[in-house]
Amino acid sequence: MDTRLQVHRDSLPIYDIVFERSFDSLADEVRALGTAGRRICIVTDSTVAGLYLDAVSSALTGCCRELTSFVFPAGEEQKNLDTVRALYEHLIKHQFDRKDMLAALGGGVVGDLCGFAAATYLRGIAFLQIPTTLLAQVDSSIGGKTGVDFDAYKNMVGAFHMPKLVYTNVETLRTLTEEQYSSGMGEIIKHGLIRDGDYYEWLRANQPAILKRDPSVCLEMIRRSDEIKRQIVEEDPTEQGARALLNFGHTAGHAIEKYMNFQMLHGHCVGLGLLAAVSISRERGYLTDGEEEEIRGLLKAYRMPVSVSGIDPEQILEATKNDKKMDGGQIRFILLRAIGDAYIDCTVTADEIRRGLAAVINNDRGGVLR
Ligand SMILES: NC(=O)c1ccc[n+]([C@@H]2O[C@H](COP(=O)([O-])OP(=O)(O)OC[C@H]3O[C@@H](n4cnc5c(N)ncnc54)[C@H](O)[C@@H]3O)[C@@H](O)[C@H]2O)c1
Repeated sequence: MDTRLQVHRDSLPIYDIVFERSFDSLADEVRALGTAGRRICIVTDSTVAGLYLDAVSSALTGCCRELTSFVFPAGEEQKNLDTVRALYEHLIKHQFDRKDMLAALGGGVVGDLCGFAAATYLRGIAFLQIPTTLLAQVDSSIGGKTGVDFDAYKNMVGAFHMPKLVYTNVETLRTLTEEQYSSGMGEIIKHGLIRDGDYYEWLRANQPAILKRDPSVCLEMIRRSDEIKRQIVEEDPTEQGARALLNFGHTAGHAIEKYMNFQMLHGHCVGLGLLAAVSISRERGYLTDGEEEEIRGLLKAYRMPVSVSGIDPEQILEATKNDKKMDGGQIRFILLRAIGDAYIDCTVTADEIRRGLAAVINNDRGGVLR
């Protein structure tokens, strides 16, 4: 299996995604970007720093003139302009100029924040991604979307800024909590459902090895997921069309995530949103009852919640209508024509959404269901 993918824009290669089982080749990959004589700042959070900062620092030491690190406390609440400001101060203090580089070591929070700082510092400097969560390895590190939260608004301030390299070491998944791992599985199952029925079957067949985080199986899984995201991002780099397919499960998922005050993990909310969309697709005759049950079973097998309680469906419906993925006042819903074949639908009615939500909201029991 090829352990490298190349992402293009207008048919020109812009960056590579490399899949490895260690940090051994990181130095060579970074050196190939022309970093000798330059400064590199590793940006990471407090949890990841304790686990991987030493290994990554020793790999990068010989690649550049000066290596610094900027560590901020782990957590979504740190993905804000105050942290960006502190990072700018660090870069100014260490005299970073336009040819220097940032390296995002961590999950989606680190990648989004570091990418945004790279997009804006001195009108844009280079950065690379070293994703360490499953979600970051299959989703947030690819595609160039960067940004931070602003007050209560998620990802309100941001920029498209492509990394120079995405270096994925699947061994870092070993230290991830079970919850974080299963959250990443939400996006992975989504990839199979929207574009690749064979991959979806592969995810069904390889459950035991994936749950055990077998590194060679994880490597194949992440590579296949990244290939799907790469194709879609290349078709539509700035989210004008096809890239909307990646929002499968996100319309209702975001609304649930917001309603739960971000106390549920993103991938888990996407899983619930995905089941609501699957239910609407089944009602329209695109999927069978059996297929809907099978998808629900797969989410459960990967330890994702398949229903939630204590939620007002009418509020979710309202939030869905207010989602930024609306098209001229009409909700742009992503539905499945078949497993592996998603499309954009602007005709989904409020009643269809209500019935879709009924498939995942179970208010008869207390607490959040698993
Ligand atoms: N840019 C995009 O296209 C895009 C796409 C999806 C999500 N996102 C963003 O990504 C963020 C969520 O990312 P996330 O789920 O990776 O969360 P995260 O970055 O907060 O990481 C989750 C937790 O896991 C810890 N962690 C990271 N790697 C670890 C490892 N290998 N071992 C042990 N612990 C580890 C982190 O310190 C953190 O506490 C959100 O802010 C979301 O908006 C961005």
